[in-house]
Amino acid sequence: MNKITSLFNIQYPIIQGGMIWNSGYKLASAVSNAGGLGLIGAGSMYPDVLREHIQKCKKATDKPFGVNVPMLYPNIEEIMQIILEEGVKIVFTSAGNPKTWTAFLKEKGITVVHVVSSSKFALKAQEAGVDAVVAEGFEAGGHNGREETTTFTLIPMVKENISIPLIAAGGIATGRGMLAAMILGADGVQMGSRFAASTESSAHADFKQTIIDTKEGDTLVTLKELAPVRLIKNKFYNDIQELYSKCPTPEELKELLGRARAKRGMFEGDLVEGELEIGQIAGLIHDIKPVKEIIDSVMEEFEMAKGEVVML
Ligand SMILES: Cc1cc2nc3c(=O)[nH]c(=O)nc-3n(C[C@H](O)[C@H](O)[C@H](O)COP(=O)(O)O)c2cc1C
Repeated sequence: MNKITSLFNIQYPIIQGGMIWNSGYKLASAVSNAGGLGLIGAGSMYPDVLREHIQKCKKATDKPFGVNVPMLYPNIEEIMQIILEEGVKIVFTSAGNPKTWTAFLKEKGITVVHVVSSSKFALKAQEAGVDAVVAEGFEAGGHNGREETTTFTLIPMVKENISIPLIAAGGIATGRGMLAAMILGADGVQMGSRFAASTESSAHADFKQTIIDTKEGDTLVTLKELAPVRLIKNKFYNDIQELYSKCPTPEELKELLGRARAKRGMFEGDLVEGELEIGQIAGLIHDIKPVKEIIDSVMEEFEMAKGEVVML
């Protein structure tokens, strides 16, 4: 047992990050059944869809699972109400101020974790009363910190600043990566990209194939004026770059982004015009596998690499 396995009452300190259009109840329950902590990603769900996924997840696993709530999306009050009504025990908040919801959720007996990308916000989250923080480096898929701090730098600095349990995210897809993060001071890891390319992810098959075709250097962070996001360089990405050459206003960027770009790319499989969010570590992901195989092989490599460290 370590701080993370005992906090969530799980077997391995592996969390599946909430991921819009990828992490419905099938992925979350598979991760929880395999000994990690699965999170339903509320960011891409209307409130009634979220309720349905929570109910199905409860039927699909008797193990702990949680819900990720990115605070930049609408309907947050309604989402939180559903979380309470459905008796969800664990909530990971992201993309917002940890003070907004932590006390409310903690009063209801919910374990609260907040995702940050700097020591400053890790401290704010600790002050707000969260049970743990996820510190996510710049190499991560999805929305990113403005400070561009990488996981290797971020984890020891956050560790120096907070006393609550610390979960590392960004660039971790293997047992060796997990061990490295834990040697740097993390108590557990959150993986996103690796689980996006799993059998149980709700992403479109063509997007999953694109993840495993993605090579080192194929992703970049863009749209910093709106909310920085790491994307695969496709036509949509090139269109953004072209617009940047004309010094656009944030309104013009918003107009190009339009609505439902992420759904179009990751869920509907439009690899040309859609937004394809994935982390740099996609370059190390070579297969689409069932979640149980992913977690078993991560843990096997983690234990093996631990033995190698002893021999160094
Ligand atoms: C496709 C995709 C969608 C994501 N959506 C969310 C989200 O809705 N909420 C959130 O907090 N993080 C989101 N993330 C970040 C992940 O939860 C996780 O922290 C990150 O992927 C870890 O880095 P990695 O991709 O290198 O494993 C997303 C990541 C990806 C790849």
